[in-house]
Amino acid sequence: MLCKDKMLIIGGKPLMGEITVSGGKNTAVAVIPATLLSDEPSTIENLPDIEDVHALIEILEYLGAKTEYVPGKYLKVFPEKADGCNVPFEFTRRLRASYYLLGALLGRGGHAEVAYPGGCEIGSRPIDQHLKGFAALGATIEDRGGLVCAKAEPMTGADIFFDMVTVGGTINVMLAAVKAQGTTVIYNAAKEPHIVDLANCLNSMGARIKGAGTDVIRITGKPSLHGTVYTVIPDQIETGTLMIAAAATRGDVTIHGCIPTHMESLTAKLLEMGVRVSENDDSIRVRPQYEQRAVNIKTQVYPGFPTDLQQPMTALLCMANGTSTVCETIFEQRFKHLDELRRMGAHIKLMDRTVLIEGVREMYGAPVTVTDLRAGAALVVAGLMAKGMTEIYETAYIDRGYERIEEKLRSLGADIRREKI
Ligand code: EPZ
Repeated sequence: MLCKDKMLIIGGKPLMGEITVSGGKNTAVAVIPATLLSDEPSTIENLPDIEDVHALIEILEYLGAKTEYVPGKYLKVFPEKADGCNVPFEFTRRLRASYYLLGALLGRGGHAEVAYPGGCEIGSRPIDQHLKGFAALGATIEDRGGLVCAKAEPMTGADIFFDMVTVGGTINVMLAAVKAQGTTVIYNAAKEPHIVDLANCLNSMGARIKGAGTDVIRITGKPSLHGTVYTVIPDQIETGTLMIAAAATRGDVTIHGCIPTHMESLTAKLLEMGVRVSENDDSIRVRPQYEQRAVNIKTQVYPGFPTDLQQPMTALLCMANGTSTVCETIFEQRFKHLDELRRMGAHIKLMDRTVLIEGVREMYGAPVTVTDLRAGAALVVAGLMAKGMTEIYETAYIDRGYERIEEKLRSLGADIRREKI
């Protein structure tokens, strides 16, 4: 990516104070394309001011929609004139979630031509289940040189059983099915919080979706949807990353504007480590106990331990007391952060898809390179823990999913800044 700036962290300072988490990236990237399912204007609030949101706004404009975006406040979408159905690679290379334009454009007008997505290199990440869902809804799918062309006149409801739980596949089929003729039932559906958020947003537009958050989602197709004013939920993974950073620095941090029930699997693991975690309705407080015990982690689909927190958690466990294991069951190559953590003194072994971490007493700042979004989060956590200066290169990956992370951490007392290279 050859990013123009680097992040500098002087570690060893406990994070102290209060912070408010931003709106959810993985819900924002589903809700923004959903505005194309109506011809009426929609307003989306609490969007995080991140690169993935900016890229999607450019795609909507490219398709002919008008937008009014006030970062940190709202995004207004006027989709009436959005008559485009082609999204070229110059856009889709910028974010993986560009594939949601397939479902949204199929739902909007039964025709979508979207280049295969780019995004984080954490595994092969095929979209065969998405395409299987579209075909079940009556779409003909053509693969033309890196471009997925899908057409369906009309879309008709169907029963769809996913071979594995897929967040993207569940979201994409929901976007395509809300205006199909008849009822669609998705079996083996993903249950992540952002699936429920999208269903709530679509229902606020007049859709009829039941069962979101369970593994069977029933969608009764509607001929048209109206506009909405919708506020997206807070970011589950940013909340978790801040909780982990607080524990990593032995700090005392209260995170406001979050949803504690979304964090239960991480909270349970931090408590198991000996970290003190307390909850209110919309805030979580993380305080240190004494030594932090090693634990065993296995990533699972929601409500299990999120794969997106595997990497920051691996960084935290590098200085736990004892030997921890982290098993990544969702993505086969989500380990590129391990080499960088080793540069900082971590004792880590990778055996197949399980990381073996032998806790060390000290980690040391070093120049490290970000390879994907959550690897970046792991290196920030490690930099906050390590003795001395850590220089983090390719920070643009981090900006895709975290809104001004260094401002948030600096407000909690971290010595962190950016510098032009
Ligand atoms: C979404 O990715 C998130 N991205 C990921 O977050 C998150 O890690 C993942 O869900 C799991 O929670 C967005 O929401 C934009 P999947 P997605 O489809 O939809 C396989 C982050 O850091 N699979 O649930 O791509 C796939 O290869 C990002 O914010 C197929 O084989 O995840 C993977 O092994 C990283 N065929 C597993 O299923 C398919 O058609 C789960 O993938 C679809 C998926």
